[in-house]
Amino acid sequence: MSTVTPVSTNMSQHAARKKVTTLTFRQKKERGEPLTMLTAYDYPTAMAIDKAGIDSILVGDSLAMVVLGYENTLPVTMEEMLHHARAVARGAKSSMLIGDMPFMSYQVSVEEAVRNAGRFLQQGGMDAIKLEGGRERADAVRAIVGAGIPVMGHLGLTPQSVHQLGGFRAQGKNASAAKRLLEDAQILEEAGAFSLVLESVPARLAEFISKKISIPTIGIGAGLGCDGQVLVTHDLLGLFDRFTPKFVKKYANLHETMNKAFAEYIDDIETKRFPAPEHTVEMTDDEWDEFLSDK
Ligand code: KIV
Repeated sequence: MSTVTPVSTNMSQHAARKKVTTLTFRQKKERGEPLTMLTAYDYPTAMAIDKAGIDSILVGDSLAMVVLGYENTLPVTMEEMLHHARAVARGAKSSMLIGDMPFMSYQVSVEEAVRNAGRFLQQGGMDAIKLEGGRERADAVRAIVGAGIPVMGHLGLTPQSVHQLGGFRAQGKNASAAKRLLEDAQILEEAGAFSLVLESVPARLAEFISKKISIPTIGIGAGLGCDGQVLVTHDLLGLFDRFTPKFVKKYANLHETMNKAFAEYIDDIETKRFPAPEHTVEMTDDEWDEFLSDK
């Protein structure tokens, strides 16, 4: 492990931040200040995102695809989500931490939904949970909120319904679908959700919904009119190479950077440039001579 002292001089990144809460979410919407959210699934990434000053970190079930290599989000389990949630909670101190309820952890019964939501706070170190769906989840949202657990909704492209939606497709593109989406947003607000994600919906619809409801909307592929934005960190960093959704802005190409570093490492070993003297442990000549003397 490196013992190099960090040289960053950006003081604002290191000043202790106040913990972000549901109250912060509400106040930022009232003040018209954009909310920021990213996903994380491990300790070092959570640390870096938290230090950068993000409002909230989502331990998303996108974990299934971008970390575990599954085709979609359906296979990931509560145990896997909790394992990664704990790592994120150890790394992030100020951001609001949101655990994403995996497929089948909240659909079977309201009781199971409350129990599994509780596990994210009790065993995963999360501050809130997110779940997908509108009117069909209203009872679960109400019960989870009733147990004192903040709930973030998720409407539009809900990846856990990928088979029902016929693929990862934009939603709310015709008038009746748009009307249903607005109603769902209002139902989630009424059920007590503190915020909701709008994924892959037309920008003008997302803006309309954001103005109609009092809770903050967090957009992903939903335009500038939302109250905040979220991206999957592995997309933003260019770490997930399989495909890149249209709405992603890549801020780095870490897949390429990693590839290059690994290839250089292999080359260094094969050409005996690594390990160099500075990577090598030495002993004094006296100790060496003594060691050799009885050989
Ligand atoms: O799982 C996830 O990363 C998400 C975001 C795309 C909002 O649900």
